[in-house]
Amino acid sequence: MGWAAALDVRDHSTAAHTARVTDLTEQLARAFGIHGHELVRIRRGATLHDIGKMGVPDEILRKDGPLTDDEWVLMRQHPDLAVQFLSGVNYLNDALDIPWCHHEKWDGTGYPRGLVGTEIPLAARIFAVIDVYDAVTSDRPYRRAHPHADVMTLIHDGRGTHFDPEVVDAFERLMYENPALRRTDPVPR
Ligand SMILES: [Fe+2]
Repeated sequence: MGWAAALDVRDHSTAAHTARVTDLTEQLARAFGIHGHELVRIRRGATLHDIGKMGVPDEILRKDGPLTDDEWVLMRQHPDLAVQFLSGVNYLNDALDIPWCHHEKWDGTGYPRGLVGTEIPLAARIFAVIDVYDAVTSDRPYRRAHPHADVMTLIHDGRGTHFDPEVVDAFERLMYENPALRRTDPVPR
């Protein structure tokens, strides 16, 4: 949690974002019958999902506009950097699935390894949906937060391409059955 807090300072993300994605990832993992120490692993991985960004230079991490191709090459190293950082810590060796694989996509077009389908660890397939949900329902300097319903549509559109279809189904069920888990919609201006 200390490392996650250090990253929040550097990339202007917030402790609240990290806490939300970690809690929601646990909820969705439970829906897949995951329990016990496996949930501990998943919580640690979710908390540290972007820790590899500690190795990305400030001018890229904090850039306001879109990244250039060269800058993207560096940004896309963050999952591999996470492996370097965490593999030296014994009790985090088994928490690498999410930091390493959260940008992989179901259809194989993700990074860093272009894994396809169930080659991607289940924890990372679950986290990928949660990370997009939280990001798009949050304000950014260049855009306002999108309402819950719109983001559910966006995620449904990624079913079978970006996301594991079974994870999308389970996420839709979770949000349908537990309205308290939904983000509050932005107040229209
Ligand atoms: Fe990331």
